[in-house]
Amino acid sequence: MASVKVRGLNKRFGQTHVLRGVSVDVPDGSFAVLVGPSGCGKSTLLRLLAGLEEADDGSIALGDRDVTRLEPRDRDIAMVFQSYALYPHLTVRDNLAFGLKLRKTPPAEIEARVKEASEMLGLGPLLDRFPRALSGGQRQRVAMGRAIVRRAQLFLFDEPLSNLDAALRAQVRVDIRKLHDRLGATSVYVTHDQVEAMTLADEIFVLNKGVVEQSGPPLEVFARPRTQFVASFLGSPAMNFFEARMESRDGRWFASQGDLAIEIDAADFPGALSSGRRVTVGVRPHEVDLASGDEGARFQVAIVEALGAESYAHGTVGGAPFVARLDPAAPVAKGDTVRIALQKVHLFDTDTGLSLREA
Ligand SMILES: Nc1ncnc2c1ncn2[C@@H]1O[C@H](COP(=O)(O)OP(=O)(O)OP(=O)(O)O)[C@@H](O)[C@H]1O
Ligand SMILES: [Mg+2]
Repeated sequence: MASVKVRGLNKRFGQTHVLRGVSVDVPDGSFAVLVGPSGCGKSTLLRLLAGLEEADDGSIALGDRDVTRLEPRDRDIAMVFQSYALYPHLTVRDNLAFGLKLRKTPPAEIEARVKEASEMLGLGPLLDRFPRALSGGQRQRVAMGRAIVRRAQLFLFDEPLSNLDAALRAQVRVDIRKLHDRLGATSVYVTHDQVEAMTLADEIFVLNKGVVEQSGPPLEVFARPRTQFVASFLGSPAMNFFEARMESRDGRWFASQGDLAIEIDAADFPGALSSGRRVTVGVRPHEVDLASGDEGARFQVAIVEALGAESYAHGTVGGAPFVARLDPAAPVAKGDTVRIALQKVHLFDTDTGLSLREA
C-alpha cells in the first residue's frame, strides 16, 4: 500500500474551473473521505487520481512514484463506483477473475486470490451466480472483491453505497471500514453523505467549489469548523445560524439582535471583539438546553418531531429558523414559546463566512 500526495491540482472543463489548486495528503494505511455538495469536484478529483482524467497542472504521487502522467493501468489503483460496473454475462467468479486474466496472471494465482477475496466478503455461496441474481448489497460486495483481487496500492470509492437502502448502507459501511483495516489499505472515499464521512474517515476533506475548505479528523472538523460552509455541511440536523451585532456592556461581550443577547467568551473569539461588528452566530441543535424563568433566548416552537429516543423542535429564534434537539420528555409542544440556553456558540464573520474563533 502507499501514501497519496496531491499538490496544487487544477482541472478545467472548458470554461468551468472545477478543481482550483487542490492539495491532499493521505498517509499510508489511512482512510480519507472527500465530502462536499453536488458538483464541487469530488468525482473529478477521484478520476484524476485514477488517471481517467488528466490534470491541467499540479502533481499526484503514489508512495514515492510520480503518477501524474501515467496511464490508469500503470498506476496500480482500484476503483469502486456507485454503479457496480459488473459484467452481466459473467458469473461472480469470472467477474472477480476478469482483471487478473487480462493481466495474464497464472490460473492458480487467480484461483487463490478469488478464493481469498470471496471469503473476506462472504461471496463463497454466490460464486456461480450472475449479477442479475444478486441484491444491490451483494453486487457492491462483488465490485469490492474485484478491487481486492487486484492487490492495488490504493482503493478509490465513488459513492459506493448510494444505491443501497438505509439499513444495508449502514451495514456495508461497517464492512468497508473493516475490510480497509484488514487489508491495511490506503483508501480515498467520496460521498456527500456526512454520516458516512464522519464514521468512516480517519481524515475528512471538505470540498467546496473546487477548493479544500478544511481537512482533519472528523470530530475535530465538526467541533471547530473554520468556515460557515463547513459548519453547515457537517452535522444533522444542520447547525442553526442567525445574524447579530457585537456589543460590549460592563466589560462583557454579547452578540445581540433585538432583545436577544448571547454572551460571548472573549477568550474564545478575540477576532470578534469590536462593537457593532456584524457576526453570524451558529448553534448546533444538540447544544441547546431548556432554560428556566426568563433566562436564555426565546424559542418559538412551530412543530415537534418525536423520534422516540429524542425529539426535534423546529421553530424560530430571533426571527431565524431554528432546530433544537430535546429530551422526548421535555414539556414542549407546538405553539409554545420557551427559553433556551445555548451551551456552545460558533461565531462567523457575516461577510466572509470565516470563523472568528482563535486559530
Ligand atoms: N467530462 C466533463 N465535461 C464537462 N464538465 C464536467 C465533466 N465532468 C465533470 N464536469 C463538471 O465538473 C463539475 C464537478 O463535477 P464532479 O462530477 O466532480 O462533481 P461531484 O462533486 O462528484 O458531484 P456529485 O456529488 O453530484 O457526484 C460539475 O460542474 C460538472 O458538471
Ligand atoms: Mg460525483
